[in-house]
Amino acid sequence: MPPLLRSYDPRDFAALYRLDQACYPPGIAYSKTTLRYFLSLRSAECLVALEEEKIAGFVLTEENAPLAHVITLDVAEKFRRRGIGSALLAESERNLALRGARHVLLETAADNEAGVAFWKQHGYVVAATLKRYYLGRLDAYEMRKIMAAPGRSGTAEVSKSSASAENKGRERKN
Ligand SMILES: CC(C)(COP(=O)(O)OP(=O)(O)OC[C@H]1O[C@@H](n2cnc3c(N)ncnc32)[C@H](O)[C@@H]1OP(=O)(O)O)[C@@H](O)C(=O)NCCC(=O)NCCS
Repeated sequence: MPPLLRSYDPRDFAALYRLDQACYPPGIAYSKTTLRYFLSLRSAECLVALEEEKIAGFVLTEENAPLAHVITLDVAEKFRRRGIGSALLAESERNLALRGARHVLLETAADNEAGVAFWKQHGYVVAATLKRYYLGRLDAYEMRKIMAAPGRSGTAEVSKSSASAENKGRERKN
């Protein structure tokens, strides 16, 4: 059964914060202030996935068409490998494409094997290595994908071009 997806509601904040803290190491997980900031952006969209009536995952994006940025994608450990991340990403990419986004980018820690495998599985390619991006010592990959315009058949077309784009991402903490 695919997860139930819905838009973020401010009452979800505490659950999202807890989930993000559980998904990332200290210093990479967002503070409440940073998470609130991203959620408050006019250009942001946050979708949550529900399992057993609880929040099992969420995706947070922002866009300035034709550019879009995945700020974070979090799935609770006990619900992983069930397609929840994929369902969140698919819905999010669909919405972004409808609003005119074509280039999607994100950053992920280079040692995040599950994350890198997940993004590659969804057509994202490593466009650059960002040296010491996290905590002043952990490298990140900038990964990107070019999406087909809505209504065109086929899945996203992938580009390795490094056209300049916003690069905030899973924001570096120091
Ligand atoms: C990365 C993450 C979002 C994936 O969520 P998920 O719901 O488990 O992903 P899905 O079940 O939709 O996986 C889709 C595919 O991605 C790949 N994948 C996902 N997790 C993987 C892992 N641990 N190892 C290898 N491949 C993996 C697989 O190809 C998988 O398909 P399969 O299960 O049929 O083999 C989840 O592991 C997570 O929240 N991790 C912590 C936070 C994080 O790293 N977020 C991404 C960086 S922003």
